[in-house]
Amino acid sequence: MRQRTGVNELDEMLCGGFLPGDAVLLAGGAGTGKTTLALQHLVNGATQFGESGIYLTFEQLPNQIYRDSQALGWDIRRLEDEDKFRLICTSPNILLEDGGGENILSEPIKEINAQRIVVDSLSHLAMFTGHNELRRELYRLIMLLKAKGLGSLLIWESDERSDQSKALADGGISFLVDCIVSLKPVEIESTIRKALVVWKMRGSDHDKRLRQYEITSHGIEVSSPFTNYEGLLTGSPRRSMTEDAANNWAMAFAKNKQKHS
Ligand SMILES: Nc1ncnc2c1ncn2[C@@H]1O[C@H](COP(=O)(O)OP(=O)(O)OP(=O)(O)O)[C@@H](O)[C@H]1O
Ligand SMILES: [Mg+2]
Repeated sequence: MRQRTGVNELDEMLCGGFLPGDAVLLAGGAGTGKTTLALQHLVNGATQFGESGIYLTFEQLPNQIYRDSQALGWDIRRLEDEDKFRLICTSPNILLEDGGGENILSEPIKEINAQRIVVDSLSHLAMFTGHNELRRELYRLIMLLKAKGLGSLLIWESDERSDQSKALADGGISFLVDCIVSLKPVEIESTIRKALVVWKMRGSDHDKRLRQYEITSHGIEVSSPFTNYEGLLTGSPRRSMTEDAANNWAMAFAKNKQKHS
C-alpha cells in the first residue's frame, strides 16, 4: 500500500504515493510551501487514510503552527485530541543527544500508532552538527525512523548560495534518502511560477516532469506539467517547439525541398 499525500496530482506523479517506510526529502527555498505540504500530508493521512502522524519541528513555536494550520482549514488540535496527530517542538541539541531520538519519539509513536513523521527541518538540525558529523547524524535519524516503521518527510531548506545545499549536492544527503521532492521557483516569460518535481524515487517509476503548483488557503494545489518549456531547471527557460510548430516546420521544409528538386 502506497502512502498517499492526498494531493492527488502529486500522488499521480509518485505513481500512487510514497512507498511505505521511505525517507523522503522535501527540498525547497524559503517560503516555497514546504511546511504547508508537510502538514497537509499528515492531516490528509489522519483524516483520509487512517494513518496518524507526528510533526517534529525545530523551527516554529506550537502556537504559530496551530494558528497557521487553522488558517489553512486544518484543526490539528482536534486531531491531537483524537490521537491522530502529535506536534513536537524541540531543539536539535536534544534530538542529537545519545538516545535523544528514542526519548523524544517512542512515546508519541506508541500513543497514536504513528505511521508518518515530518521533520522540519534537517537544515536546522545541520546547523547543530559539524559538517563531518552531518551525514552520520542524518543516517542515524533516518535509520531510527525506519526502525520505527515510519514513512518520513524530511524538510531541507535549499539555498543555492549556502554551504547547506552544497552538503546536499555533495551527495551526503541525497544518497541517504529514498525519494526527493523539490519545490522551486522558475521564471517563465518574466513571471515567477512555482514548480514541483520528483527528482528520484527508489524502487518505483515516477513522473519526471515539472508541475506548476500554488499555495492556496486550502494548502498546496498542483496543476499541469510545464510541457512547453525546457531549460527550467537550468534557470534559462526557453519555450520549446510545440508539436504543432514542429509539424509546421517539417511541412514547410518538405514543401521547400519539393520546390527545389
Ligand atoms: N492561508 C494561506 N493562503 C494562501 N497562501 C498562503 C497561506 N498561508 C501561507 N501562504 C503562502 O505560503 C508561504 C509560506 O508557506 P510555508 O510556510 O509552507 O513555506 P516554507 O517553505 O515552509 O517556508 P520557510 O522556508 O520559511 O519555512 C507564504 O509565504 C505565503 O505565500
Ligand atoms: Mg517552513
